Amino acid sequence: MDKLVIQGGRPLLGSIHVGGSKNTALPLMAAALLADGVTTIHNIPVLKDVATFSNVIRVTGATVTWDPDDDPNTPETITIDASNLHHYEAPYDLVKQMRASFYMLGALLGRGGKARVSLPGGCAWGPRPVDLHIKGMEALGAEVHEEGGYVIAQAPGGRLPGGRMRFEPVSVGATINVLLAAVTASGESVLENVASEPDVVVFGEMLQAMGAQIEGLGTDTLTVQGVEALRPVEFTNCPDRIELGTYMIAAALATPAGETLTITGARPEHLGPDFTERFRETGVPFRTDGSTVEVDGVDAIRPVSIETAPYPGFATDLQAQWTVMMTQADGPSTVRDTVYTDRFKHIPELRRLGADLRVEGDTVHVAGKNGRPLSGATVMSTDLRASVSLVLAGMVAEGETDVLRVYHLDRGYERLEGKLQRAGVDIEREQYDEAHAEGVAA
Ligand code: EPZ
Repeated sequence: MDKLVIQGGRPLLGSIHVGGSKNTALPLMAAALLADGVTTIHNIPVLKDVATFSNVIRVTGATVTWDPDDDPNTPETITIDASNLHHYEAPYDLVKQMRASFYMLGALLGRGGKARVSLPGGCAWGPRPVDLHIKGMEALGAEVHEEGGYVIAQAPGGRLPGGRMRFEPVSVGATINVLLAAVTASGESVLENVASEPDVVVFGEMLQAMGAQIEGLGTDTLTVQGVEALRPVEFTNCPDRIELGTYMIAAALATPAGETLTITGARPEHLGPDFTERFRETGVPFRTDGSTVEVDGVDAIRPVSIETAPYPGFATDLQAQWTVMMTQADGPSTVRDTVYTDRFKHIPELRRLGADLRVEGDTVHVAGKNGRPLSGATVMSTDLRASVSLVLAGMVAEGETDVLRVYHLDRGYERLEGKLQRAGVDIEREQYDEAHAEGVAA
């Protein structure tokens, strides 16, 4: 098993490059299955989740070519040839590794009017149901039933007619999944209260490039005129907005006053107005110029309370990182997650580093710096964004912090320790034996 060993207190300097968006790459790969031919997608991040999803896609008979090199600064390209797609199934042993594999339901229904897809497994927090995905397919005219842990869906007559669906609550995944099935329906579909995250908008733009007829991208209502078939395309994935937000917070925490961290390859407008406004309120100066964001180090961080919400609200995927930033602020603040009200598995781990945090319902009360620095310890990753928050905390804690089970981190952050090392952080990846690691409950 791998862990990251961090010696705290090193200044974060120079520049860091943002990789391709994980949460956009996966739907783009699913969209490729809708076309009979070879689709090429650029700027695909080198992540475990992309490798996992490639294996899920290969089960259908489609071929995936993706051979990332070791150069962290060359964006990677994936090609998916769906000409020979003939097996309309996504098996449990792969879907359980990554819930976004559930996008196969919409992709296979959209391509061939049938699908047998394993229900996704659990997550570190939740529940994370898929009822809206299934209701959406039924709204488009699919016959859906569950059997032996699988969702089995069929379009009567082989092609969905289309229909109307209102999502309650807003769901990124359900919006993407239902759109995959709606674009090749025989009639019109109207999808209301949809997600408008950049992931969804860029995904919709790829579908349009493939010939899909979609009106309303970026708003809360999509109107889709189904088409017979989509054509293969060459498309470029957008940068990862969560990675960008994470590095901006890292600069606030570890770039010294008088120094600047330069973040390249970004798309700042994808952060959304809420995160951008809140970050500005902390008093940490930053400037954006096209795909570059410069963040100046500060001596003091003002406490700023946040509340997550669907886009254009504050991304839930940045609340753990924000919490760490607020442990270093000059005063108390609160961090509330209204999307996942129990996404706080990182809190007990941050308390092991000496952070003064208290969870009440869907809100974390952060005491702020109050003169007491964090101190290094062995901590356990529990999920993707929690693990990166532990790395951020280790960067500012005194002494050594060992972050265990970094396989969670490898799912969503491309070559993170290399990027941080090149920006001055003392961070090394080491092997350890889980059975005998200090701090691991038996
Ligand atoms: C996507 O998950 C992201 N994952 C998550 O990022 C992100 O946290 C989340 O959107 C919210 O922004 C990917 O894109 C692969 P949702 P998703 O459906 O689609 C409820 C990361 O760290 N809901 O928008 O699963 C749900 O319980 C990951 O990169 C239903 O009730 O999230 C939640 O309260 C973690 N029924 C709310 O909707 C459903 O059928 C929003 O979830 C589906 C969702």
